[in-house]
Amino acid sequence: MAISRTERLAVTSESEIVATRQLVRGLATSVGFTLVEQTKIVTAASELARNTVQYGGGGTLVAEVLEDGGRRGIRLTFTDEGPGIPDVELAMRDGYTTGGGLGLGLSGSRRLMSELTIESQVGRGTTVVAVRWRGTS
Ligand SMILES: Nc1ncnc2c1ncn2[C@@H]1O[C@H](COP(=O)(O)OP(=O)(O)OP(=O)(O)O)[C@@H](O)[C@H]1O
Ligand SMILES: [Mg+2]
Repeated sequence: MAISRTERLAVTSESEIVATRQLVRGLATSVGFTLVEQTKIVTAASELARNTVQYGGGGTLVAEVLEDGGRRGIRLTFTDEGPGIPDVELAMRDGYTTGGGLGLGLSGSRRLMSELTIESQVGRGTTVVAVRWRGTS
């Protein structure tokens, strides 16, 4: 698998969540995702960016275009050095929130993307990697 393009962005504020949406929309367009697919990817990116700001105390996004034997995709890696997630499985459940939200950001993002993985260490931070390949429902 090759990475044909890499973009980096700080994700620390509301305006940078907006910038995240714009960056991801542009990349998804360049990859040739349909409008519906683009919207799913941008929605997931927005949720993950919001978590990075709200719970992670800010962090970074690395957005990459992937090429794998003719199929193309997008990979979004959000990293923060915040408090971490004590129980990742619990955090992935529909409705689980510690911040008075709907608790649908992570679980919804997993449904909107092809793959979503979380690595987190309490006291060290969190990395969320989300991938979507083209032409997958
Ligand atoms: N980057 C992060 N660092 C630390 N904790 C996180 C992080 N992202 C998510 N969490 C934890 O996982 C929980 C679930 O996240 P999720 O995005 O699913 O729901 P929410 O943010 O609480 O509500 P919603 O996204 O629906 O508004 C959060 O309430 C928080 O406890
Ligand atoms: Mg959330």
